[in-house]
Amino acid sequence: MRKRLCVALFLTLGVVGLYFYQIDLATSFDFRPGDSHTSRPSPDPSVDPSNPSSRARDPGVRMGAPGAGDPITGLSATETAFFNAGKDDFAEEDGVPEGLGPTMNLDSCGNCHLQPAVGGTSPAVNPQVEFANKLGATNTLPAFIHANGPVREARFVRNPDGTPDGGVHALFTIAGRTDAPGCVLAQPNFAAAQAHNNVIFRIPTPTFGLGLVEQIPDAAIAANQAKDSTTKRSLGIAGKANMVVSGRAISGQTNNNGNDGTIARFGWKAQNKSLLLFSGEAYNVEMGISNELFQTERNETPNCQFATVPNTVNNTDGATPILAASAIEKFSLFMRFLAPPAPSPDTPGGADSIARGRTLFSNVGCALCHTPTFQTGNSTVAALRDKPVNLFSDLLVHDMGPGLADGVSQGQAGPREFRTAPLWGLGQRIFFLHDGRTSDLVRAIQEHRSGDNFHRNASEAYGVVRNYNNLHDSQQQDILNFLRSL
Ligand code: HEC
Ligand code: HEC
Repeated sequence: MRKRLCVALFLTLGVVGLYFYQIDLATSFDFRPGDSHTSRPSPDPSVDPSNPSSRARDPGVRMGAPGAGDPITGLSATETAFFNAGKDDFAEEDGVPEGLGPTMNLDSCGNCHLQPAVGGTSPAVNPQVEFANKLGATNTLPAFIHANGPVREARFVRNPDGTPDGGVHALFTIAGRTDAPGCVLAQPNFAAAQAHNNVIFRIPTPTFGLGLVEQIPDAAIAANQAKDSTTKRSLGIAGKANMVVSGRAISGQTNNNGNDGTIARFGWKAQNKSLLLFSGEAYNVEMGISNELFQTERNETPNCQFATVPNTVNNTDGATPILAASAIEKFSLFMRFLAPPAPSPDTPGGADSIARGRTLFSNVGCALCHTPTFQTGNSTVAALRDKPVNLFSDLLVHDMGPGLADGVSQGQAGPREFRTAPLWGLGQRIFFLHDGRTSDLVRAIQEHRSGDNFHRNASEAYGVVRNYNNLHDSQQQDILNFLRSL
């Protein structure tokens, strides 16, 4: 009797043990190219997000010529003229007489989108620090804004009554500015929001090459989504090395536009359909300048209105097409005609390392989400027609686990989902991930991996990052060199 109990207990323990072992196996992918042994992975170095056991290091921001900011080749003379006029408007700093505020995050598109050239991402010195008190403004600097940190905008996760908010709460007001006499308006209470874990951040995304992204047909995005579905779901089926991602597939979905049902693709959650829509929204949300797409002031405090509404419109008396076009059209044309960033053939690390890194990037599974290339369709604009788009994104949103979750839903993108960040131009980016939490490429990669299998809340990239961590240090270095060459 007692002996039988012992056997039963022993068997149970064995089964439980096997169960745990299986789970570990299920998340591992013993992948070391050029390595003959295929034993179980050694203790997982990625538990510490900085991955200190690896000697591979982020080569840092690539110096030298920006390789971005010029117009795309093949534009006509008039298209080039619109590009130049749009660039001027994009870089211009607006004042209250032009409609700035009453609440805003900055006074110019170009100062948030500046690295490594106008149109890009957050510069090294955050212009929001100086802007807080520009022209006598009395703003206090929120605790999460630093001179050497990224440009940030803030969203509140919930309303005071607990219902979802998710909206942008502008950092600053025009109160105190010499061009806003009599305006009295308080900033939101960011300290309280932070104390309640109710504020999340977004940093600017680059706009180089976005005219090409606009022209990728939905059918191409859908075909790419379906493409490696077997690999994405479970590599085991094809009899290849097993890569089951935490029992869950890499299964990104599209974020479709609420108005016409086509695939939206701009912003950290692929929440916006077009450059014109983003321009209209950014002009009103980031700068407080109402326009033809967003006609109403976000803050209608009476003693803080100094311009007619909407603040900017097409000039029907304009003598030339450029003089007639409204600002948001010009912003869009500038971004639409911006050339994609030019990668470096040999910096950092040399051409061989970069080539190896490119292959490894695909082999470990990064390219299952960061799709290296798409093709544009039959664009009306010749310079954008049937062109390659080497953006390194599938334009889908993916569940990135609790570590990156921001609790905000936009369209079909849920609280833990983000668009695969396009990696072109990455070599010259200073801050990484949606909230700019790191400037270290190694950490950006490790942050992809959060959650666990027991709670079934692992990031879709969980298994891929494990593959990366199982590479030799020199192979990881090849991937980092490749990424900084982009
Ligand atoms: C205060 C800083 C700030 C200002 C000013 C600003 N932006 Fe942005 N921009 C951002 C942030 C932050 C995001 C990411 C927003 C998100 O996805 O939630 C962004 C994203 C974008 C994108 C999406 C790019 C992509 O790849 O998805 C476009 C387009 C854009 N901005 C255009 C503009 C234009 C045009 C202006 C001027 C009217 C402007 N921005 C002003 C901060 C700024
Ligand atoms: C499941 C899809 C998925 C996989 C697999 C994946 N990524 Fe990502 N990647 C994303 C998403 C989504 C983001 C944006 C996350 C955020 O900002 O919260 C991102 C962001 C990044 C960024 C930061 C870019 C920026 O502009 O801030 C880098 C760098 C990056 N990925 C590299 C990699 C590498 C290298 C691999 C392979 C080891 C990889 N990714 C695998 C989806 C993926």
